[in-house]
Amino acid sequence: MSTSAQERIIRPARNIIGTLRLPGDKSISHRYAMLGAFAEGTSRFSNFSTGADCASTLSCMQALGARVRKLDDGRVTPADHPLDCGNSGSTMRMISGLLAPQRGKFTLIGDASLSRRPMERIRKPLADMGANITLTEGHAPVTVEGTKLNAIDYTTPVPSAQVKTCVLLAGLQTPGNTIVRESLRTRDHSELALRAFGANLTRSIDSITITGPQTLRAIDAVVPGDISSAAFFLCAAALFPGSGLILDGIGLNPTRATLLDVLTALGARVAVLQLQEVNSELVGTVQITTDTMGLGSTTISGALAAQLIDELPVLAAIGPYTSGGIRIRDAKELRVKESDRIALVARNLRAMGAEVEEFEDGLDVPGGQTLHGAVIDSGGDHRIAMAFSVAALRAERETLIQGAESAAISFPEFFELLDLIAER
Ligand code: S3P
Repeated sequence: MSTSAQERIIRPARNIIGTLRLPGDKSISHRYAMLGAFAEGTSRFSNFSTGADCASTLSCMQALGARVRKLDDGRVTPADHPLDCGNSGSTMRMISGLLAPQRGKFTLIGDASLSRRPMERIRKPLADMGANITLTEGHAPVTVEGTKLNAIDYTTPVPSAQVKTCVLLAGLQTPGNTIVRESLRTRDHSELALRAFGANLTRSIDSITITGPQTLRAIDAVVPGDISSAAFFLCAAALFPGSGLILDGIGLNPTRATLLDVLTALGARVAVLQLQEVNSELVGTVQITTDTMGLGSTTISGALAAQLIDELPVLAAIGPYTSGGIRIRDAKELRVKESDRIALVARNLRAMGAEVEEFEDGLDVPGGQTLHGAVIDSGGDHRIAMAFSVAALRAERETLIQGAESAAISFPEFFELLDLIAER
């Protein structure tokens, strides 16, 4: 097969062996970039995410800071051109909360995929706080005309750390108690990062209260390795009896590390070593060995589906190689990610010869199947491109991944590192 710059061929592997350290977590890097720009003083981050999404956040913050004098109270004045959030929903949703209480008018734009994603979920709570925020038929471009806000008590209608963070960042700058309640717990990096930057907030089992206004203090931090990037290599290792993979310095925040429990339940041997706390985030070494003759079966639904939202495509993609299959439910949010991930996972599994059933909120992927190499349409979605590169490792013959360059959204080093650890 001949390939273009946007395509990658993945050949079957015999095993996954190696020791790696991965670039910094995307979610944490976004938050550190935003809070670092907002805080008084100079923050220094090492192992910052190398992905294009976090570069979008950095350039938005630079546009705000570079063109506009940062005033003593942490205010910014608007950049004179739209803030380009690229492919990054986190950038658009979280920065909207940061800007809503600021003085000035800001326009946030994104690429074609981001411009299809729902933004009403951030407009509603910000409007409830009194913000002037307009969307374009529910989507980007988002226009924020900053004004003084009122604190609110808000229950998120869908489990979303981005929406939670958007409201907290507005609440941080708003007099009174802003409360965010969530029925399913989502990743808590914002809460931990806000505390690391010196903010006071209180947490109960299902709510966070922040009393504004508060100022933040700069920090020096090392960003933990991205566990959602690690997920591709861990799932790859789980496919081959005889694999041995060690990933050092990985973020193991309990709201993000559920994949390790799922892999263990499927029959992989997962060990966590050298666990430590860095800026309130847990970091450790993950070791996976697979000496059983295969993976079992699992159902992921309810709270688990929300916690594993970014790992579901790769789990579904290895489903055919388990003995009992993988069932996913309560994951409707997958339909409004960078692509409709339920539809694309189903379509690409079928292209590889798998049987799969699609539901509005999930998938049934039967186990015990043999897949063959195919042409994979990633839909320009980084996690689909990487998930099917993993599925391709155990397929018969080679697979062509179209839109492979999208991996750079979160993990530019993915293909290079995969080549390093995949024994052929
Ligand atoms: C993220 C939250 C999740 C996740 C995304 C990153 C974050 O989205 O899918 O990749 O950093 O807060 P939602 O909060 O919209 O579920």
